[in-house]
Amino acid sequence: MTERLKVHVDPDKCQGHARCKALAPELFELDEYGNAREAGDGTVPPGLEDKAWLAKSNCPEIAIDVIEE
Ligand code: F3S
Repeated sequence: MTERLKVHVDPDKCQGHARCKALAPELFELDEYGNAREAGDGTVPPGLEDKAWLAKSNCPEIAIDVIEE
C-alpha cells in the first residue's frame, strides 16, 4: 500500500515567507497577503513527496505540517 501524504499550513504561524511556494508550487497557494495555504485538500500527488518534506523543513515559522496517512 502506498503511503499518502498531506500538507497543512497553520495560518496562525505563517508569516508569508513564501519559501513553500518557491520550493513546491504544486502544493501551496498564496493569498493576497502572501500567506500560504495548502493547494486543494493538501493531498500530495505521487512523486511530490520530497517537495512536501523540503517545504516543511524550509519554512522559517515551522508553519507547515506533513501528515502521513
Ligand atoms: Fe508561510 Fe512558511 Fe510558506 S511562513 S508562506 S508557510 S514558507
